[in-house]
Amino acid sequence: MSGPIDAIYRNAAELVTMDGPPPDPSRPFDHAPLAVIEDGAIAVRAGRVVALGTTRDVLASVEIDPKNTCDFDCVGAVVAPGLIDAHTHALFVGHRADEFVARIEGATYADIAAKGGGIARSVRELRAASDEHLIRELAARLKRLRSYGTTTVEVKTGYGLDTESELRSLRAIRAASVRAGVRVKSTFLPLHAVDPALRSLPDGRQRYLERTMRETVPAVFALEDGARPDYVDAYVDTTGFSVEETRPLLDAAKRAGIPVRMHIGQFADIEGAELAAEYGAKSADHLEHVSDAGLRAMARAGTVAMLLPGAAFSLGQSMPDARRMRSLGVEVGLATDCNPGTSYVENLPLVAAFAVRQMGLSTAEAWWALTRAPARSLDWEGGVLRVGGVADVCVLDMPTWRALPYAVGSVRDKFSRP
Ligand code: NIG
Ligand code: FE
Repeated sequence: MSGPIDAIYRNAAELVTMDGPPPDPSRPFDHAPLAVIEDGAIAVRAGRVVALGTTRDVLASVEIDPKNTCDFDCVGAVVAPGLIDAHTHALFVGHRADEFVARIEGATYADIAAKGGGIARSVRELRAASDEHLIRELAARLKRLRSYGTTTVEVKTGYGLDTESELRSLRAIRAASVRAGVRVKSTFLPLHAVDPALRSLPDGRQRYLERTMRETVPAVFALEDGARPDYVDAYVDTTGFSVEETRPLLDAAKRAGIPVRMHIGQFADIEGAELAAEYGAKSADHLEHVSDAGLRAMARAGTVAMLLPGAAFSLGQSMPDARRMRSLGVEVGLATDCNPGTSYVENLPLVAAFAVRQMGLSTAEAWWALTRAPARSLDWEGGVLRVGGVADVCVLDMPTWRALPYAVGSVRDKFSRP
């Protein structure tokens, strides 16, 4: 080995590498996917893993320079690949707590949106905020997400909905990622709702779709490297956009070489899963309403089902049946959907707790759903720890991997404070 290492994480009660075989849906209670090492350690040089194993073996195989090697004592904690949150709308200002109260008192999401609340309200609030305000709010939120063990976060636009506000959103996402020191993948979500400034016009919907394709999409796709979105998204639902309304955007993304992910079946099945599969979407997200045929198409296309229990919980819906998806051959991921309307949640371990108790995932599948599955959906090499691979870790303050759902949202990263 060439010289001293940069960092060592050692004495971990357990090192979860996630370097085992993918979970087999016919044997969900097999824990092999986690590939756990007790009393584990991991050594890092230049951002890569140079050794991992038991603390004893790793210490014997690397050179430590007491002045320059960062030494993280992980006693009593679990070292794991940094968790990955592959669906958030974390770029927003303010909150919509009154809408949650109204829903508890019987209003529906659609009632609230029809009265000018919902997404349109967050659009007005984002447009009124300065760039600095947007960046500050998102950077603070990214640090809070990080404090729960999440090291990679997908962040969508979709509260801009006009050209200038969408461009501003994408630049703010990049700036906040740098400021918070949290890895971000950005997603352009123009088909989230109709721009509230056009909505009341008789042909407002048509004008919005037309303007988006003529003006917003080309401007966004021409953005400088750092701010160009990594993904394109559309909300395909009765409360969002139809399959036919969505196709031009997906075709434009394809021509520009930008992969897609989609909101599918949150309120109704309008065959969005089939559309997602047709366009080779990296993920189809929500899926409270989806047919077996749609799921089979996703399985064939390799589209990850990104389930969002925070949203189903907040909307009072029944949780999607992850077991059914697994048995049809679909890979399942979990994400917070962090947003001010339907899922004011920043805590991925809490999402894992919902998933194992209320969606039928096993604990090993939940780990996979927070690491390997979202990594694949984001074309990112993390989510696994192996020699030569990226050294992206979280240190979860819990005695065993079993506690990720068991602790019901009480787990924090030992070395990361918001
Ligand atoms: O994923 N359903 C559409 N989008 C979000 C909600 C956004 C909002 O209400 O502000 C979701 O649940
Ligand atoms: Fe969402």
